[in-house]
Amino acid sequence: MSERANVTIADLAAMKQAGRKIAMLTAYDYPTGRLVDEAGVDVVLVGDSLGMVVLGYDSTTPVTMDEMLHHAKATRRGVQRALLVGDMPFMSFRVSVSDTVRNAARFVQEARCDAVKVEWKVGIEDVVKAIVDAGIPVMGHVGLTPQTAQAEGGFKVRGKDAESAERIVAQAVSLQEVGCFAVVLECIPSVLAAEITQRLRVPTIGIGAGASCDGQVLVLHDVLGLFEKFTPKFVKRYAQLAPTIRQAAAAYIDDVRAGRFPEAAHGFTMDPEQWAQARRDMGIDR
Ligand code: KIV
Repeated sequence: MSERANVTIADLAAMKQAGRKIAMLTAYDYPTGRLVDEAGVDVVLVGDSLGMVVLGYDSTTPVTMDEMLHHAKATRRGVQRALLVGDMPFMSFRVSVSDTVRNAARFVQEARCDAVKVEWKVGIEDVVKAIVDAGIPVMGHVGLTPQTAQAEGGFKVRGKDAESAERIVAQAVSLQEVGCFAVVLECIPSVLAAEITQRLRVPTIGIGAGASCDGQVLVLHDVLGLFEKFTPKFVKRYAQLAPTIRQAAAAYIDDVRAGRFPEAAHGFTMDPEQWAQARRDMGIDR
């Protein structure tokens, strides 16, 4: 793969084979998509986490298809090289298989995403098969699945006892078998993620799942220090943009109030003759 070529699903498979780690980040609009793409990320996920970090909801469950598409389209305009994945929101893949395929197709046709992601639910295999049969690549997601986390005991690490650990292994394997090209492992013990990563032919992408996964994903607004409500233990912050934005906004407000902004350099001039003519025309004699 050359440095500038578009990242493909085959590239991700080859990276797993070669032991090269896959770097994935979320992005939700044109500037964030463009910036993470220019930084060289392999996969950009337009995650339904946008419900919390961009739209201000308390969870991801209120997020609609229309909201996802609006953000996916904007992100696409910024992402040139990375593989772009659209996250299927809560009710978009739970009503009927035909509705699900139609919704997945909207991510590809309207937002020009390269693939979609679905969270694990009972019966997801038929849903994944139908989307894959329609020619749309699917990324799976097991472990902590935020769309149903509240109903399933809260935002806690999953797979800490033998029974649930075995269940998560079985879920990941079945997602691979029905055609997922990669599986996100969220908030599970590192030993469990390592075992799944070893068992699967397709890449695993971890978030709170330890260092053995084939790749890692984080929510961009956590990485940048833009989301301040809470910080999950698995997040590493690489910047603190919230205080920087607050300071910049406060400095602007002070300048406006004190008359320090705008300065002459920020304004536009006019030919004095033209202005004199305009004043005469408008009868201004002050
Ligand atoms: O919505 C999201 O951002 C996600 C990632 C955390 C994997 O699903």
